[in-house]
Amino acid sequence: MMADSVPYNARIREFKLSDYDRVISLWLECNLIRSKESLSKEMLRIETERNPRLFLVCEDSSGRIIGTVVGAWDGWRGWIYKLAVAKDYRRGGLASRLVDEVTNRLRQSGAQIIRGYVKKENDASLSLFAKLGFTRMDDVVLVTLGRQ
Ligand SMILES: CC(C)(COP(=O)(O)OP(=O)(O)OC[C@H]1O[C@@H](n2cnc3c(N)ncnc32)[C@H](O)[C@@H]1OP(=O)(O)O)[C@@H](O)C(=O)NCCC(=O)NCCS
Repeated sequence: MMADSVPYNARIREFKLSDYDRVISLWLECNLIRSKESLSKEMLRIETERNPRLFLVCEDSSGRIIGTVVGAWDGWRGWIYKLAVAKDYRRGGLASRLVDEVTNRLRQSGAQIIRGYVKKENDASLSLFAKLGFTRMDDVVLVTLGRQ
Protein backbone atom coordinates (compact mmCIF):
# COMPACT_ATOMS: atom_id res chain seq x y z
CA MET A 1 0.00 0.00 0.00
CA MET A 2 1.26 3.51 -0.75
CA ALA A 3 2.08 5.52 2.31
CA ASP A 4 1.29 9.17 2.92
CA SER A 5 3.90 11.81 2.17
CA VAL A 6 6.45 13.35 4.51
CA PRO A 7 5.55 16.48 6.51
CA TYR A 8 5.52 19.48 4.16
CA ASN A 9 8.57 21.01 5.81
CA ALA A 10 10.74 17.89 5.86
CA ARG A 11 12.68 15.71 3.45
CA ILE A 12 14.00 12.18 3.41
CA ARG A 13 17.65 11.72 2.49
CA GLU A 14 20.56 9.40 3.09
CA PHE A 15 22.44 9.56 6.41
CA LYS A 16 25.68 11.51 6.67
CA LEU A 17 28.17 11.01 9.48
CA SER A 18 27.59 14.62 10.58
CA ASP A 19 24.00 13.56 11.50
CA TYR A 20 25.37 11.27 14.20
CA ASP A 21 24.53 13.34 17.32
CA ARG A 22 21.02 14.21 16.09
CA VAL A 23 20.27 10.61 15.13
CA ILE A 24 21.45 9.36 18.53
CA SER A 25 19.19 11.93 20.25
CA LEU A 26 16.20 10.63 18.31
CA TRP A 27 17.00 7.00 19.06
CA LEU A 28 17.37 7.81 22.76
CA GLU A 29 14.01 9.65 22.70
CA CYS A 30 12.43 6.62 21.01
CA ASN A 31 14.07 4.09 23.37
CA LEU A 32 15.82 2.35 20.48
CA ILE A 33 19.19 2.48 22.23
CA ARG A 34 20.16 2.50 25.90
CA SER A 35 22.95 5.07 25.74
CA LYS A 36 25.09 6.98 23.29
CA GLU A 37 27.99 4.70 24.16
CA SER A 38 26.11 1.65 22.87
CA LEU A 39 26.37 2.88 19.27
CA SER A 40 29.57 4.68 18.38
CA LYS A 41 30.11 6.96 15.41
CA GLU A 42 32.55 4.38 14.07
CA MET A 43 29.86 1.68 14.12
CA LEU A 44 27.54 3.91 12.12
CA ARG A 45 30.33 4.76 9.69
CA ILE A 46 30.91 1.06 9.00
CA GLU A 47 27.18 0.44 8.57
CA THR A 48 26.88 3.34 6.12
CA GLU A 49 29.79 2.03 4.07
CA ARG A 50 28.24 -1.43 3.93
CA ASN A 51 24.76 -0.27 2.86
CA PRO A 52 25.23 3.34 1.73
CA ARG A 53 21.74 3.79 0.20
CA LEU A 54 19.79 2.12 2.98
CA PHE A 55 20.33 4.37 5.99
CA LEU A 56 17.68 7.08 5.64
CA VAL A 57 16.88 10.08 7.77
CA CYS A 58 14.12 12.67 7.64
CA GLU A 59 15.18 16.22 8.44
CA ASP A 60 12.81 19.12 9.09
CA SER A 61 13.42 22.68 7.93
CA SER A 62 15.22 23.56 11.17
CA GLY A 63 17.76 20.79 10.64
CA ARG A 64 16.30 18.50 13.27
CA ILE A 65 16.33 14.79 12.47
CA ILE A 66 12.72 13.70 12.99
CA GLY A 67 12.78 10.22 11.50
CA THR A 68 15.09 7.35 10.63
CA VAL A 69 15.06 3.91 9.13
CA VAL A 70 17.99 1.60 8.48
CA GLY A 71 17.80 -1.14 5.88
CA ALA A 72 20.26 -4.01 5.60
CA TRP A 73 20.69 -6.43 2.72
CA ASP A 74 22.65 -9.54 3.64
CA GLY A 75 22.24 -11.34 0.33
CA TRP A 76 19.47 -13.57 1.74
CA ARG A 77 16.93 -11.14 3.03
CA GLY A 78 16.33 -7.47 3.51
CA TRP A 79 16.01 -6.26 7.08
CA ILE A 80 14.50 -3.12 8.54
CA TYR A 81 16.03 -1.59 11.66
CA LYS A 82 15.85 1.62 13.67
CA LEU A 83 12.48 2.85 12.50
CA ALA A 84 11.87 5.97 14.56
CA VAL A 85 9.76 9.12 14.37
CA ALA A 86 9.99 12.04 16.81
CA LYS A 87 7.01 12.18 19.17
CA ASP A 88 5.66 15.48 17.85
CA TYR A 89 5.64 14.21 14.25
CA ARG A 90 3.88 10.91 14.85
CA ARG A 91 0.63 9.75 13.18
CA GLY A 92 1.37 11.84 10.11
CA GLY A 93 2.45 8.99 7.89
CA LEU A 94 6.19 9.57 8.19
CA ALA A 95 7.15 6.08 9.39
CA SER A 96 5.04 4.57 6.61
CA ARG A 97 6.85 6.73 4.09
CA LEU A 98 10.25 5.73 5.50
CA VAL A 99 9.36 2.03 5.36
CA ASP A 100 8.10 2.45 1.79
CA GLU A 101 11.30 4.13 0.73
CA VAL A 102 13.66 1.65 2.35
CA THR A 103 11.56 -1.26 1.07
CA ASN A 104 11.85 0.04 -2.50
CA ARG A 105 15.58 0.43 -2.10
CA LEU A 106 15.94 -3.07 -0.63
CA ARG A 107 14.00 -4.50 -3.57
CA GLN A 108 16.30 -2.65 -5.97
CA SER A 109 19.23 -4.30 -4.18
CA GLY A 110 17.68 -7.71 -4.88
CA ALA A 111 15.75 -8.46 -1.69
CA GLN A 112 12.54 -10.39 -2.33
CA ILE A 113 11.81 -11.00 1.34
CA ILE A 114 11.94 -8.09 3.78
CA ARG A 115 11.68 -8.53 7.53
CA GLY A 116 11.87 -6.54 10.71
CA TYR A 117 12.05 -7.21 14.45
CA VAL A 118 9.21 -5.79 16.51
CA LYS A 119 8.75 -6.26 20.24
CA LYS A 120 5.53 -8.10 21.06
CA GLU A 121 4.22 -5.23 23.14
CA ASN A 122 4.93 -2.56 20.51
CA ASP A 123 1.34 -2.09 19.31
CA ALA A 124 2.13 1.03 17.30
CA SER A 125 4.82 -0.67 15.27
CA LEU A 126 2.85 -3.90 14.84
CA SER A 127 -0.15 -1.92 13.56
CA LEU A 128 2.06 0.07 11.24
CA PHE A 129 3.68 -2.97 9.63
CA ALA A 130 0.32 -4.74 9.36
CA LYS A 131 -1.12 -1.70 7.60
CA LEU A 132 1.78 -1.78 5.15
CA GLY A 133 1.09 -5.44 4.30
CA PHE A 134 3.73 -7.16 6.46
CA THR A 135 2.51 -10.40 8.04
CA ARG A 136 3.31 -11.55 11.54
CA MET A 137 5.45 -14.71 11.99
CA ASP A 138 4.27 -16.34 15.19
CA ASP A 139 6.16 -19.58 14.53
CA VAL A 140 9.61 -17.95 14.83
CA VAL A 141 11.55 -17.35 18.04
CA LEU A 142 14.53 -15.05 18.09
CA VAL A 143 17.72 -16.53 19.55
CA THR A 144 20.75 -14.49 20.44
CA LEU A 145 24.38 -14.73 21.54
CA GLY A 146 25.43 -11.77 23.63
CA ARG A 147 23.45 -9.03 25.28
CA GLN A 148 19.69 -9.08 24.87
C1 LIG B 1 6.18 3.18 15.53
C2 LIG B 1 6.47 4.58 14.96
C3 LIG B 1 7.75 4.51 14.13
C4 LIG B 1 5.28 5.00 14.08
O1 LIG B 1 5.58 6.24 13.46
P1 LIG B 1 4.44 7.17 12.81
O2 LIG B 1 5.11 8.15 11.90
O3 LIG B 1 3.60 7.72 13.87
O4 LIG B 1 3.61 6.10 11.96
P2 LIG B 1 2.56 6.42 10.81
O5 LIG B 1 1.99 7.78 10.99
O6 LIG B 1 3.18 6.11 9.50
O7 LIG B 1 1.42 5.35 11.15
C5 LIG B 1 0.85 4.52 10.16
C6 LIG B 1 -0.13 3.56 10.83
O8 LIG B 1 0.50 2.78 11.84
C7 LIG B 1 -0.43 2.57 12.94
N1 LIG B 1 0.02 3.28 14.14
C8 LIG B 1 1.05 4.16 14.25
N2 LIG B 1 1.18 4.57 15.53
C9 LIG B 1 0.22 3.94 16.23
C10 LIG B 1 -0.15 3.94 17.61
N3 LIG B 1 0.50 4.71 18.51
N4 LIG B 1 -1.17 3.16 18.00
C11 LIG B 1 -1.84 2.38 17.12
N5 LIG B 1 -1.54 2.34 15.77
C12 LIG B 1 -0.52 3.11 15.36
C13 LIG B 1 -1.75 3.17 12.47
O9 LIG B 1 -2.45 2.16 11.75
C14 LIG B 1 -1.27 4.26 11.53
O10 LIG B 1 -2.24 4.64 10.58
P3 LIG B 1 -3.32 5.78 10.99
O11 LIG B 1 -2.56 6.91 11.62
O12 LIG B 1 -3.96 6.12 9.68
O13 LIG B 1 -4.26 5.12 11.96
C15 LIG B 1 6.62 5.62 16.10
O14 LIG B 1 5.53 5.50 16.99
C16 LIG B 1 7.92 5.48 16.89
O15 LIG B 1 8.95 6.05 16.52
N6 LIG B 1 7.86 4.73 18.02
C17 LIG B 1 9.06 4.54 18.89
C18 LIG B 1 10.12 3.70 18.22
C19 LIG B 1 9.61 2.37 17.75
O16 LIG B 1 8.89 1.67 18.44
N7 LIG B 1 10.04 1.99 16.54
C20 LIG B 1 9.69 0.73 15.92
C21 LIG B 1 10.66 -0.34 16.33
S1 LIG B 1 10.18 -1.90 15.61
